[in-house]
Amino acid sequence: MSPATLPDALPDRAAPVGVFDSGIGGLTVVRQLMRLLPGEDIIYFGDTARIPYGTKSDDTVKRFALEDSFFLLDQGVKAVVVACNTASAIAIQVLRRFLPVPVVGVIEPGVQGALRETRNGRVGVIGTATTIRSGAYRRLLLAARPDLQVVSQPCPLFVPLVEEGWIEDEATYLIARRYLQPLLENRVDTVILGCTHYPLLRPVLGKVLGPGVRLVDSGVEAAHHLKQVLAEAGLLNTRRRGEHRFYLSDFPYKFQEIGERFLERTLPHVETVNFEAFLLNKGRRFWAQLEKRWHSAPVPGGDG
Ligand code: DGL
Repeated sequence: MSPATLPDALPDRAAPVGVFDSGIGGLTVVRQLMRLLPGEDIIYFGDTARIPYGTKSDDTVKRFALEDSFFLLDQGVKAVVVACNTASAIAIQVLRRFLPVPVVGVIEPGVQGALRETRNGRVGVIGTATTIRSGAYRRLLLAARPDLQVVSQPCPLFVPLVEEGWIEDEATYLIARRYLQPLLENRVDTVILGCTHYPLLRPVLGKVLGPGVRLVDSGVEAAHHLKQVLAEAGLLNTRRRGEHRFYLSDFPYKFQEIGERFLERTLPHVETVNFEAFLLNKGRRFWAQLEKRWHSAPVPGGDG
């Protein structure tokens, strides 16, 4: 195991890929990574003790995202995947500035997916309140194509509905119809699923939006992007079968059941870490090093 310091040199290709999320939802991204990059070892950290991120302030999300990454760096990862849309939207630039390994978020790949899919130039974006408030998806979509019409809609109730397992429930349809009304009125032909939990709602979203609307899963797009980033950095591991380790900062109620729904397979051993103790000990050393790297310029926020 590596020491609690920010490494200066890139680890080799045999090192694991680190993935973090505010909780369990990031397993939808892990599912895609396992599918596309079966040779990679994956270390997942879900900050289940501090979820949700989707309602928190920008400063808190940035701090949490850095701390989650410290945990992964301490495990010797060669790249960090920010599975959480909220953390990607708010903190990707801070992470890219301070982490010594490649950082892949879900926003930029999701935007690329939508640009590829849309025919009529009307794109819907759904996500947590913080993701939508950040304007990250909208900004990147318009930067690439200023003629696009972007319709953004926060859908905060989708997260608890998915965790409750109410996927094709009457209540979920009712709420989906209400949230998606502005997207329907504006006749979007493409919708970015800008939250870890939303891929599970595909059946409902597909029915409410209609067959003509393409759904872009930012996790799928991020997996492809990671593959490209690793290949370009000479870090791709094409071994036959990778190993996967799962860490959580708390073991929540019904975790196994919910986690397996997200991962679409049996969850192997999951370890609960004493994250508070980690932050008080090793975390402090990471923060001290990071402060040394901190130059006077203010740190920008998200968009990735
Ligand atoms: N993982 C978060 C996201 O993708 C959803 C859950 C939360 O609010 O923390 O935005």
